[in-house]
Amino acid sequence: MNGPPIVLAPDASILFVCLGNICRSPTAAGVFRAAAARSGLAHTVYADSAGIGDWHAGSPPDRRAIQAARRRGYDLTSLRARQIVPADFDRFGWIMAMDASNLRALEAMKPRAYDGRLGLFLDLAPELDVREVPDPYYGGSDGFERVLDLVEAASSALLSRLGNRVRPG
Ligand code: 4NP
Repeated sequence: MNGPPIVLAPDASILFVCLGNICRSPTAAGVFRAAAARSGLAHTVYADSAGIGDWHAGSPPDRRAIQAARRRGYDLTSLRARQIVPADFDRFGWIMAMDASNLRALEAMKPRAYDGRLGLFLDLAPELDVREVPDPYYGGSDGFERVLDLVEAASSALLSRLGNRVRPG
């Protein structure tokens, strides 16, 4: 994946982060991009994903994540995993962690001068009453459905927040 266009305000760029970057965060990026496109914001917001670890760098999302997403109309096949890099803090105005462990790792990397929003993705949708996207990697297919349910809700919440910010006027 290439970096966001230089003309884009960092405020409108979002990086979703999980541990391996093959289940939760690529699902979040795919779902969020689709929601942005449906709202006419496909060219206004930029979304990418990354992992805390580098074990799966260069790989497509987990087959189960691809299949579960496809059943809801999302195509994750072109995504490739990568590890987060320090430069991501320059490029992304929003860095959204899937769980508290991911967030702790990101906070340890965060440059002192970072003035973007670093936090738990699900905190954008408090009505969910859950703050972490459970890791589905070692579980069954219901875990991937749960990931989709949670990231669909939080993506809508994020889009509403950004939509107010990036629309002219
Ligand atoms: P993710 O799930 O963080 O949602 O991509 C995982 C994928 C792979 C591993 C752990 C979590 N792993 O240990 O390889």
